[in-house]
Amino acid sequence: MMTSQSPLLSIVIKAHERLCLDKAPLIVKSPGRINIIGEHTDYNNGFALLGAVDKSVVLAFTPRADNAIRLHSIDFDSTFETSLSTLEATGLEWPNLVLGSVIQLQRSEQNLSGFDLVYGADLPRSAGLSSSSAIACGVIYGLNKLFDLNMSVNDMAWSAVRTEHEFMGVRCGVMDQINNLRAQENSALLLDCQDQSSQYVPFEQQKLSVVLCDSQVRRKLSLSKYNKRRGQCEEGVTVLEKIKPGIKSLRDISMDFLQSNKSLLNPTVYKRCHFVLEENQRVLKTCEALRNNDLESIKRLLYASHEGLRDLYQVSCAEINKLVDGAMQIKGVYGARLMGAGFGGCTINLVEESQIGTFLNEMTKVFRDKLRKSPKIHVTALSKGTHVVNV
Ligand code: GLA
Repeated sequence: MMTSQSPLLSIVIKAHERLCLDKAPLIVKSPGRINIIGEHTDYNNGFALLGAVDKSVVLAFTPRADNAIRLHSIDFDSTFETSLSTLEATGLEWPNLVLGSVIQLQRSEQNLSGFDLVYGADLPRSAGLSSSSAIACGVIYGLNKLFDLNMSVNDMAWSAVRTEHEFMGVRCGVMDQINNLRAQENSALLLDCQDQSSQYVPFEQQKLSVVLCDSQVRRKLSLSKYNKRRGQCEEGVTVLEKIKPGIKSLRDISMDFLQSNKSLLNPTVYKRCHFVLEENQRVLKTCEALRNNDLESIKRLLYASHEGLRDLYQVSCAEINKLVDGAMQIKGVYGARLMGAGFGGCTINLVEESQIGTFLNEMTKVFRDKLRKSPKIHVTALSKGTHVVNV
């Protein structure tokens, strides 16, 4: 079982001391992402209801007088050195997110000098918690502070998105990055990805815990499948735009319009678009249900989201389906579904606080009997977005 206490901060500080001797660092904590509901809606200009997980990347920065960049990854136990004047992607995968983020800042003509950066994470990679945006946002947020760049949250978020597109090959939307920078404790963030406006939805009075179950399935091919889903949504918009000029994204069409033009669309493209339109509505209904403390509706909406991801968007897998269906049988569960891009990773479960013990026991059996795996269950709390840590 993953634990919520982490010695990560002291590990990063010690490693920084070894690399940079007596210079005091700027320390930034950048969390992973939870998505309560609203999957694959962001790159379709839709809605998502998000939060930050209590697992993160911790980064320790110090400025340098020259143009050098020295990076040390604790997780890869590796150091990489380069210079601002010769910056480019490397054959090694781990420094690329950092280098790509710095390149984005250079392109927007930010005034940088060299720096040392030591970082490590207690956030699992490829588990659907958006560890890559935690690194990119942490780097950009840290450099913004270190060099007084005066960037807005949206500028930082879009720079991190461009880093993912260009250096990781993932054509992601903007929800992970905005959430990373705006998330607050004990609140969910309702994000409108069309204009990036957001509002906080209180998430305390419902007495629900957010519990993540990690299927431990890590699919290498998921990247191309993710980009393919985005392409299918874009294909839908291109076809429908011929009937109704001016449509820019799936946000601009109603379910009636989609259904009445079904025959024009490839059946797979139709399914993808249908899911996105329904998912947008589910996000708004979930916010209303949270405000009204209507737990039965939340349960129904989250499971409907899972069914759509499984049957229409087709991004689930056998292990995730077993975890969701197992959770839905347990007393005190008010929603369970696949979370993140899909093809593995974690499920999110909303569990009545008083029933956590039962949930852990029952899900341990599901892991052992149905998945034949040791349980990986993490009871988390909605946490603060990226911030400076004073030590
Ligand atoms: C990944 C992407 C996000 C979003 C989700 C699916 O996390 O980075 O932009 O599209 O998948 O909801």
